[in-house]
Amino acid sequence: MENNRPRAHIPRRQSHPSTASQRGAMKTIIEPFRIKSVEPIHLTTPAEREARLREAAYNVFLLKSDDVLIDLLTDSGTSAMSSEQWAGMMRGDESYAGSPSFYRFEQAVQDIFGFKYVFPTHQGRAAERILFSVMCKPGDVVPSNTHFDTTRANVEFTGAKAVDLVIPEGRQPATIHPFKGNMDVAALERLIAEVGREKIPLCMLTVTNNSGGGQPVSMANVRAVSAVCRKHGIPLYIDACRFGENAWFIKLREEGYADKAPIDIAREMFAHADGATMSAKKDGLANIGGFIASNDAQVAQQERNLLILTEGFPTYGGLAGRDLEAIAIGLREALDEDYLLYRITSTTYLGRHISAAGVPIVQPPGGHAVYIDAAAFFPHIPPAELPGQALVVELYREAGIRAVEIGTVMFGKRDPATGQESTAPMELVRLAIPRRVYTQSHVDYVVEAILNVFGRRDAVRGYRFTEQAPFLRHFTARFAPLGG
Ligand code: F0G
Repeated sequence: MENNRPRAHIPRRQSHPSTASQRGAMKTIIEPFRIKSVEPIHLTTPAEREARLREAAYNVFLLKSDDVLIDLLTDSGTSAMSSEQWAGMMRGDESYAGSPSFYRFEQAVQDIFGFKYVFPTHQGRAAERILFSVMCKPGDVVPSNTHFDTTRANVEFTGAKAVDLVIPEGRQPATIHPFKGNMDVAALERLIAEVGREKIPLCMLTVTNNSGGGQPVSMANVRAVSAVCRKHGIPLYIDACRFGENAWFIKLREEGYADKAPIDIAREMFAHADGATMSAKKDGLANIGGFIASNDAQVAQQERNLLILTEGFPTYGGLAGRDLEAIAIGLREALDEDYLLYRITSTTYLGRHISAAGVPIVQPPGGHAVYIDAAAFFPHIPPAELPGQALVVELYREAGIRAVEIGTVMFGKRDPATGQESTAPMELVRLAIPRRVYTQSHVDYVVEAILNVFGRRDAVRGYRFTEQAPFLRHFTARFAPLGG
């Protein structure tokens, strides 16, 4: 009979602190995989792209992905799975309750994250909705380094307020700092003093800080934020989407971690927290899935009840058994040193090449993405005329590349009473790199396209909204070009 709690079958690679020494004299960092199955992509003509843009009302979310050549819209759910993950998919057990796939998933999560209670969800935002429904009430305040848009929306949906407390360097695109995702610990102390501990049901920390440029959070900062939270009895939850990439940055940039294995760095990070939410569509290397985890039996009980109401029975939580297998394997692969070396190197390669040619980017390049500072790219387009949107449109027009605006379109707001538009603090365009999907020549193509647009930047004009939804408007908004 099958043991209910089988050992994970994937042998974990031991840390090899000197990956470089394994490579000997070789300097080239390669994709550490070969390709077994290919997916054709094809270039459209400039006239076709012009027509597709007009049909999509200049919102690239409304394009058909068949019309996109290189899709950098997101790194979420777009990973290529490994042969081990596909093998796991076949092993997936679809029992409604008590599936061995769940126990393999639970074991992988507990092994890496160390939390006692683990519930699968269909993706990250489902974990957020359940967590905040249990913990928050109207009038509460939830601090984070920077809340991701779904996190903010789910906090605010409960009537609580989401507050971003990233360090000042995290708001300055050109400033170089090794851990620009860090939370401003003094600002957290001030917030607690100002609103009172009883108004703060939990504190979040997003690793890496997606909305702030994919920038990492240092272990020292995790430790400091955790100490403040513990002093005041505030639970600390980590938004763990890109925990592997964050662990790699700690290994590269923080003193004392160079010889530690990413899995041990990850374990140390989560040991400072009381729980986590995770979208397995990122560093789970899966195409769907997520989870919510904590050590609090009472919170877990309430979460379990909500989970059953909207996601499913606690041993599948909105996922198929095969998805649980893919995540269990993916979470470990995302901590493999050869993988992380290639992953962070390829993102840095893109950032370095466009930046060397003068393109203003958030420095240094992030883990999962390079963020172009569209306000500096198009100094002649004011924020109200949506410079980020203009750049996103030009990248598609130039070369069929799809990126995403993270600026006024995403974070600005129209006041329903006055019709007045507010703008965002930064006008960024994110080039998010899907994991294990594109090769270096794809990246070279992207570099060339960006430099072509940069060369003709003075002729590009801004955009205005013609339609927008009251929240998360970037997904469905429609735009029209301004001027000639
Ligand atoms: N938290 C962070 C930091 C994220 O980046 C995301 C998703 C979520 C939570 C929500 O997870 O999509 O599984 O519900 N980010 C994607 C992106 C959508 O493109 O950055 P989800």
